[in-house]
Amino acid sequence: MDLKLNGRLQPLPEHASDPAMPLLWALRDGLHLTGTKFGCGIGACGACTVHLDGQATRSCVTPLSAVAGKDVRTIEGLAQEPQGPHAVQLAWIAGQVPQCGYCQSGMLMAAAALLAAKPRPTDADIDAAITNLCRCGTYPRVRAAIKAAAESGPMPAVKKKAAA
Ligand code: FES
Ligand code: FES
Repeated sequence: MDLKLNGRLQPLPEHASDPAMPLLWALRDGLHLTGTKFGCGIGACGACTVHLDGQATRSCVTPLSAVAGKDVRTIEGLAQEPQGPHAVQLAWIAGQVPQCGYCQSGMLMAAAALLAAKPRPTDADIDAAITNLCRCGTYPRVRAAIKAAAESGPMPAVKKKAAA
């Protein structure tokens, strides 16, 4: 089985091709893309959030059979050439959002999907979309960084590098 992953066709190894296997397992154990984290395994925490056709999706409860033909994007593919880092990544760095960092790839993917759908999200939009859990309590900084990313430019967002 091939995955449409981060803009290219990616063959999955034999041991990570069972249609019933959660996408998270295939990413981490099959392809060694460990930026996407395992937290709860039951769709509750959001640590495993990736994009599926641009929608924030919890990969621990998404079987490979549901992914066929869809575009999968992981944290490793959030920054894209030639644009560079996504606006949320820049805002996260500027706002020093992470503490331990474990939940943050999922937070970033959820935030990027929100801004692609709603370039100027309200607090209520953020509350509705960002249901990810953070044991370090970074929620206020996550909210501030989403607002900062929304201010920073067009979405899905990616700042163009300055011309040389
Ligand atoms: S690991 Fe997927 S939602 Fe928690
Ligand atoms: S930064 Fe530690 S769990 Fe969120």
